[in-house]
Amino acid sequence: MRNILTGIKPTGMPHLGNYFGAIRPALDMAEEKSVEARFFIADYHSLNTVRDAKLLRAYTYEVAAVWLACGLNPRRILLYRQSDVPEIFEMATILMAFTAKGLMNRAHAYKTAIELNRSKHLSDDHGINMGVFTYPVLMAADILLFDTDCVPVGKDQVQHIEMAQDIAEAVNHNYRENLLVIPEAKVDKNLMSVPGLDGRKMSKTYNNHIPLFASEKELKKAVMKIVTNSQGVEEPKNTEGCNVFALFKLFASEAEKRTLADRYRKGGMGWGEAKQALLSLLNSRIAPMRARYDELISDTSVIDAILAEGSRRVRMIAAGTLRRLREAIGVDPS
Ligand code: ADP
Ligand code: TRP
Repeated sequence: MRNILTGIKPTGMPHLGNYFGAIRPALDMAEEKSVEARFFIADYHSLNTVRDAKLLRAYTYEVAAVWLACGLNPRRILLYRQSDVPEIFEMATILMAFTAKGLMNRAHAYKTAIELNRSKHLSDDHGINMGVFTYPVLMAADILLFDTDCVPVGKDQVQHIEMAQDIAEAVNHNYRENLLVIPEAKVDKNLMSVPGLDGRKMSKTYNNHIPLFASEKELKKAVMKIVTNSQGVEEPKNTEGCNVFALFKLFASEAEKRTLADRYRKGGMGWGEAKQALLSLLNSRIAPMRARYDELISDTSVIDAILAEGSRRVRMIAAGTLRRLREAIGVDPS
């Protein structure tokens, strides 16, 4: 059995880039044979930036509902909320003692925050809390507590997994080989980066994203904003480098792709019509998932029950790892 684990920070409705770049690949991977999958909502990671209780609560439910609406089967994949598993925080405290401060100084996210401060002529530490600085330790605890073999993540998270490896190796080196399982990051190399409305990588940071479960009206507004060239209706169009086609391709069948590509080639289809084709496709593919999402979010008791069962089961696994670790380090129960 291989243990896979991944987490999503609740910071707002995921977008199409998150869906194709993180959610779908993780769900597909969990379907493989001989895999035990644990997916969680990293709410204490969000606390570093989300300081509104109502908002944090809402984002947490949103992420859970998105996973479930996208097809997560809670009987196969354990779904839980990080904050429901106190063992993670004991694990983080243990790992803290084995984490070189210098390692944390090198974390990309922390370095970026410092660079941003410098560019604004602020002091290096301005607005940086210890949660941000020690973010990789908590993430290592999330991973190492469950003897995780494999962590499906995007490229931006690879450094964090490498840090979890370094921390685990420091612990193993001090006590014994194989005390902690060394996790591997799994980055899907074939995965294309989903373009946003302006053609850059879709990202909340660039505000060029299409929310996964936007209402039909919001979806239409977003699609109409997609940047295209200034070719007229009659001109033949190129599918390469076209943002509308790039998004269409993600959801379309081979036949649907060919039909639209033919129309591009022949000319006679303006950008308005191409966007309409994309909009219909998006609506038809997303509508069933969105209906399920709406249902889940309108009565969160189903989500509560799934999360409670998920945390109950992962806490049993966590207790085993902690018992092993406590014994190894000399912190025995009284
Ligand atoms: P954002 O850039 O909007 O803040 P995140 O960094 O929270 O998105 O993304 C979470 C995960 O979703 C990433 O690790 C990556 O795997 C995936 N992802 C995000 N944007 C894209 C994209 N445009 N194309 C493919 N995958 C993406
Ligand atoms: N840091 C990840 C992100 O920002 C979320 C996360 C927290 C995570 N803990 C994790 C991902 C453990 C994988 C494994 O996207």
